[in-house]
Amino acid sequence: MASARRCTTMATNKLIMFVVMLVVLQRVRSDDSPCDFPAIFNLGDSYSDTGAFPALFPAVQPPYGRTFFGMPAGRQSDGRLTIDFMAQSLGLRYLNAYLDSLGSNFTQGANFASAAGTIRRVNGSLWTSGYSPISLDVQIWQFQQFINRSQFVYNNIGGVYREILPKPEHLVSKALYTFDIGANDLAMGYLDNMTTEQVEAYVPDLMERLASAIQTVYDLGGRYFWVHNTGTLGCLPYALAYRPDLATEKDSAGCSVALNAGPRFFNARLKETVARLRVALPEAAFTYVDVYTAMYRLMSEAKKIGFGDPLRVCCGYGGGEYNFDKDIGCGVKVEVNGTVMEGKSCEDPSRSVSWDGVHLTEAAYKFIFDQIVEGALSDPPVPLRRACQTKGQ
Ligand SMILES: *[C@@H]1O[C@H](CO)[C@@H](O)[C@H](O)[C@H]1NC(C)=O
Ligand SMILES: *[C@@H]1O[C@H](CO)[C@@H](O)[C@H](O)[C@H]1NC(C)=O
Ligand SMILES: *[C@@H]1O[C@H](CO)[C@@H](O)[C@H](O)[C@H]1NC(C)=O
Ligand SMILES: *[C@@H]1O[C@H](CO)[C@@H](O)[C@H](O)[C@H]1NC(C)=O
Ligand SMILES: *[C@@H]1O[C@H](CO)[C@@H](O)[C@H](O)[C@H]1NC(C)=O
Repeated sequence: MASARRCTTMATNKLIMFVVMLVVLQRVRSDDSPCDFPAIFNLGDSYSDTGAFPALFPAVQPPYGRTFFGMPAGRQSDGRLTIDFMAQSLGLRYLNAYLDSLGSNFTQGANFASAAGTIRRVNGSLWTSGYSPISLDVQIWQFQQFINRSQFVYNNIGGVYREILPKPEHLVSKALYTFDIGANDLAMGYLDNMTTEQVEAYVPDLMERLASAIQTVYDLGGRYFWVHNTGTLGCLPYALAYRPDLATEKDSAGCSVALNAGPRFFNARLKETVARLRVALPEAAFTYVDVYTAMYRLMSEAKKIGFGDPLRVCCGYGGGEYNFDKDIGCGVKVEVNGTVMEGKSCEDPSRSVSWDGVHLTEAAYKFIFDQIVEGALSDPPVPLRRACQTKGQ
C-alpha cells in the first residue's frame, strides 16, 4: 500500500514536473520567438554602404572585396561589413544599394547608406568637400521614394518586378530600420582642425536631425529601430595621421584620447536621444547598440583576439607607424619619376583590424557583429533577432 502510494505520488510528481517543464519551455520559446523581419532598410555611411557610393562616383578598385567577393563589391573593405553579417543572421539576403540599378534584388530590403555620408547636409560637392551629397535627409527621401515606387511597380507593373521588389503588405511596419551614421560628421570637424569643444558644439544639431529622420520613418509606419552608436575615431590611423597634434596623448590601446572624446560625447547624446524617442514614439521598439565598446574592445585586445597591431593598416603605403599615406590609399598607384608607389593589401587581411586606415577588415567587422548580435552591448539587452520586442523598454 505504502509503496503503491509512493509510486502514485512519484508518478504525480513526474507529471507535475513534466507540465512545469512544458510551461517553462513554452515561455522560453515565446520569449525567444524571432521577429521574422521581412526586410532591413539601412541608413548610414561607409561602415554600412554596400554599393551606393560607387553607383554614383568612381568605382571601388581592387584589392577591395578580395577576401569574400573576390572582386570589388561596392564595400569599403576587403569583404563583408557588419550589416552583411546582420542580414545573414536574420536569414535575409545581403542588402543591395538602392542606387545600384544593375542586378539588384530588393525583395528583403534596401540600403540607403553612402560612403562619406553625413547626418548634416554638406556644403559643396564631393570634389570640394570630400563628403557625399547623400546625407541622411537625402537617404530618407530615397527611402520614401523606394516605398512609394516599389509598391506602385509591384502592384501595377508586376511581372519580373515581383521577383526583385518586396511584397508591399506590412513591409513598412514589419521591417527593421538600422541606422549607423555620424562618424563623418565628427571626422569633418576634426579634419578641419577643430577642437573637441568645437566638435561637441554641433552635436545637438546632429541629434535633432537624426531624431527627425527617425520620426519621418515612424510617421510612414516604421516601428523597429536598431541604432548603432559611433566608433572609435581616435583609434583609426587616418584620424591619427591627420591630427598628429591630437595623437600625442594616447591611451593604453594606442588611441588618441582627444579624438575619442568627440565620439564619446556624441554617443552619450545619442543614448539620450533614443531614450527621448522611446517616450515620444511609444509604438516603436528602439535598440541602442554600443558599437563603440565593441570596437574599443577590438582595439585594446587585438593581440589577445588573434589580430596584429590594430593601428597598422593592411592595405596602405609608406610603412612607418601606421602604413598609411593620405595620397597613396588602398588600391591607388602613383608613378613619380619612374618610381611606382602603390597601396597594396597585406598578405592576410584576416589578421588585420584596419583595412585602409579609415575602414575595418571583414574579420574586424565580424568581431564587432559577434559582440553585438546577442544584445550584450545593447540597451535594452535584446538580441538582434528579437529587436521587435523592445517596445516600451
Ligand atoms: C554649411 O554652411 C552653412 C552656412 O554657412 C552653415 O551654417 C553650416 O554649418 C555649414 N554646414 C557644415 C556641415 O559645415
Ligand atoms: C508617397 O505617396 C504618398 C501617398 O500617395 C504621398 O503622400 C507622398 O508624398 C509620396 N511620397 C513621395 C516621396 O513621393
Ligand atoms: C530575389 O531574392 C529573393 C529572396 O532571396 C529570391 O526568392 C528571388 O528569386 C530573387 N529574385 C531574382 C530575380 O533572382
Ligand atoms: C590643419 O592644420 C595643419 C597643421 O597646421 C595644416 O597643415 C592643415 O592644412 C590644416 N587643415 C585645414 C583643413 O585647415
Ligand atoms: C621628379 O623629378 C623632378 C625633375 O628631376 C624633380 O624636380 C622632382 O622633385 C622629382 N620628384 C620626386 C617626388 O622625386
